[in-house]
Amino acid sequence: MKNFSFQIPTQIIFGSGTLEQLNTISLPGKKAMIITGGTSVQKYGYLDQVYKILKYRNIDHVLYDKVVPNPIRKNVMEARDIAREKKCDFFIGLGGGSSIDTAKSVAMMMTNPGDLWDYVPVGQGGKKDFTQKGFPLIAIPTTAGTGTEGNPTSVITNEITGEKVGIRCEFPIISIVDPDLTININPRYTTYQGFDALFHNIEAFISQKANPFSDLLALEGVRLIFENLPEAVRNGKNIEARSAVSWAATLGGMVLCLASATSAHVIEHSLSGIDPTVIHGEGLIMISKAFHQLGAERIPELYSKLAFAIGMGDSKKTVQENAKAFLDALEALKIACGVGGLNLSDHGFTEDDIDRIAEGAYVIGGGALTRDQYKITDQDLKEILRNSMHA
Ligand SMILES: [Fe+2]
Repeated sequence: MKNFSFQIPTQIIFGSGTLEQLNTISLPGKKAMIITGGTSVQKYGYLDQVYKILKYRNIDHVLYDKVVPNPIRKNVMEARDIAREKKCDFFIGLGGGSSIDTAKSVAMMMTNPGDLWDYVPVGQGGKKDFTQKGFPLIAIPTTAGTGTEGNPTSVITNEITGEKVGIRCEFPIISIVDPDLTININPRYTTYQGFDALFHNIEAFISQKANPFSDLLALEGVRLIFENLPEAVRNGKNIEARSAVSWAATLGGMVLCLASATSAHVIEHSLSGIDPTVIHGEGLIMISKAFHQLGAERIPELYSKLAFAIGMGDSKKTVQENAKAFLDALEALKIACGVGGLNLSDHGFTEDDIDRIAEGAYVIGGGALTRDQYKITDQDLKEILRNSMHA
């Protein structure tokens, strides 16, 4: 067995109704900056719920609500300036991955000098390490996808260079994962976010960094998504299905740091860096058939194990046949969630874009481009993109 070590210091409070526990947990400061974006946290009353609890607990707060999907460097620096001026001493990231990722970076920039991009390890980043501990962060996800509540990574786009990169910050000190906050997500977004969670778990399992602990969590995450995502998409009010998907997403977030994402995530970050209208989960779905077909050819034994994890494995069949059964189940899951056949041409990409997407992947790739268990050559990468142009 492989040697490994792990540490996930976040206290995870999971389950329907657990937002209320914000009433009783020990808070890490006296003045919070709530970092969020969009209108749904206001529309559905989540922000009011948090306000009410903070008021009851006598905790002063400042709201920063300008976070955008594919969150940007500029907003991190702006929120940091306001938080310093208003003397906030802890953060609450409330919303989707964008809000929590922004909050993670802001928390680090409270104590570390310069610009966020000084600390980016790839591309035009300054490649410096954070030398100071960040401010504490409580993460409250209202989506079930990125799993950022379970790891220290903050994915931010530089609005000037177009680079979309993962920056290693610190783990949230507490993450409250209340699936009740996800019941109003529409079917389309439920699908995109659920597939993001699925791919975190699959990729961690097939990554070079996979280990016995990450495998345990990743296979459970994969199983939960296959069993519950179609129902969460069809019937968003089904709290059991929502809970299963939320837990799979948190598992997916944890396995990203216990193990790793693979090239699929790097290729997708290049896609949505080039065209920010591509939603992350959507981009992953568009390249998934070609990407995993290659994986099933190169490492069929792992794809066979994935088939067994979702109850599609057959011990009388060959490893290759079981690997194929998993690929077929993946396509069937897409159809069940209404995204069968989704491909790059649906977003207006053409074969002329292949070199640019590949180039972007190399620039922002960092380590993740070499975390597959087999070497993805330039030819492989371009072949994946070519095969993803049409369903
Ligand atoms: Fe992702």
